[in-house]
Amino acid sequence: NAMLAWQRTAFHFQPPKNWMNDPNGPLYHKGWYHLFYQWNPHSAVWGNITWGHAVSRDLVHWLHLPLAMVPDHWYDANGVWSGSATRLPDGRIVMLYTGSTAESVQVQNLAEPADPSDPLLREWVKSDANPVLVPPPGIGLKDFRDPTTAWRVPNDTAWRVAIGSKDRSHAGLALVYRTEDFVRYDPDPALMHVVPGTGMWECVDFYPVATGSGGAGENSGLETSAPPGPGVKHVVKASLDDDKHDYYAIGTYDAAADTWTPDDTVNDVGIGLRYDYGKFYASKTFYDPVLRRRVLWGWVGETDSERADILKGWASLQSIPRTVLLDTKTGSNLLQWPVVEVENLRMGGKSFGGVALGRGSVVPLDVGKATQLDIEAEFEVDAAAVEAVTEAEVGFNCSTSAGAAGRGMLGPFGLLVLADEDRSEQTAVYFYLVKGTDGSLKTFFCQDELRGSKANDLVKRVYGSVVPVLNGENLSVRILVDHSIVESFAQGGRTCITSRVYPTRAIYDSARVFLFNNATNVHVTAKSVKIWQLNSAYIRPYSASSL
Ligand code: FRU
Repeated sequence: NAMLAWQRTAFHFQPPKNWMNDPNGPLYHKGWYHLFYQWNPHSAVWGNITWGHAVSRDLVHWLHLPLAMVPDHWYDANGVWSGSATRLPDGRIVMLYTGSTAESVQVQNLAEPADPSDPLLREWVKSDANPVLVPPPGIGLKDFRDPTTAWRVPNDTAWRVAIGSKDRSHAGLALVYRTEDFVRYDPDPALMHVVPGTGMWECVDFYPVATGSGGAGENSGLETSAPPGPGVKHVVKASLDDDKHDYYAIGTYDAAADTWTPDDTVNDVGIGLRYDYGKFYASKTFYDPVLRRRVLWGWVGETDSERADILKGWASLQSIPRTVLLDTKTGSNLLQWPVVEVENLRMGGKSFGGVALGRGSVVPLDVGKATQLDIEAEFEVDAAAVEAVTEAEVGFNCSTSAGAAGRGMLGPFGLLVLADEDRSEQTAVYFYLVKGTDGSLKTFFCQDELRGSKANDLVKRVYGSVVPVLNGENLSVRILVDHSIVESFAQGGRTCITSRVYPTRAIYDSARVFLFNNATNVHVTAKSVKIWQLNSAYIRPYSASSL
């Protein structure tokens, strides 16, 4: 189907056709990274959910495999929903997933590879004991889903698993169970965490991160069962069904009580930090034992109409897999960064240095074709001009602002991508500084889709939030552009924004990149801008002979 063919991405993971949602059960096994995902075999809208399956050597190039699981039992007849993999010390792999039963009750089920010696794990066997968990008293029959990867704590043989839910007062929460064999479960006396008002928690994730002091290396990820203690913090992430965003908080895990306390009790899970301020949901991490890193996958849905999805025959992408670390400089947020393997797709980079951006300027950057790009840019603002401003827009907010077209004293400035020659279409990625009367500066990082496309059957927003900028740091951004998606990472990944955009003119050879500065009171220098064309990834359909 050639309809809207230019919207299809080239290095983001996509099934050959139809609807996809959450990433499921990511794991590494015998030389291969495995990704499972929620997939509708019949159409480009949600329904008939099965588990698609693909494998990769490097998280970039993929081989599609036959479906891993389909709804063929009463306990998952209405859909094989989201779940996670756990690798046991003896090499056994267990997969826990939610089944929506013939009656649409949410239960947890167990599956294992038929042949664990198969590096491709092509066949999955559902346990005779299924369902292994049903909704407990006090929990709605449709409010009990998405088991996490299991973890263990020192001096205890039992595994723990968390499952998302909500209570009758609309508090979001994670229920914890203990199990020795993944068949029988005991409810944990303590709920791991509850946040009033946040509603149903989907796709809970729970994992340790290193603080850089106290042993564990700060630049490496931690295995899910890495013992709590000095030098280790734990992240709780919940996907909020109410507003379809992924929220996290960093805190301390008390393994004996199975309770977790956020460092910042005001900006708790579902209230404060977000993985991504754009389109990014139902994410999940896994530990990669080869490069000793924790890798995050997120579902990036569409913001076009259902009609357009049916026309093009597919819907949704997975984000570029991102390495996740605690930001040891601020201590209060995570850093997300595209996995290093993405850089192997870079071709013929171009550098632009010291580009002066006067007030109200737009500067084209000649990079040739601009539909598949990796951009790294660093900006320096004229400190004297910032100093001269006594107060600037303390009430600023990306989402309620006029976007890149708005002119503030100290912003916006940044890049325009997926733009056509006369900028009738453009997606703006930019910084915006505000200044309090006390002289304090705050930096916002925003992404403006308002002029992303001439098409009007789209949701178009200005996304973004504050990004921490420490003393002496320049403003920096990394942007991945892939036809209909823009994924941006500010200050090394402290604040991230993903947009789906559907240009109608800024396509094929007509796509361009610009620098811009729309601030009225400050000059900005683009100190360095590096732009690489990115090659397409091989994402091959399955055929037995390709193995
Ligand atoms: C999140 C979610 C999960 C559920 C799955 C069903 O997007 O709603 O809670 O398991 O998708 O496809």
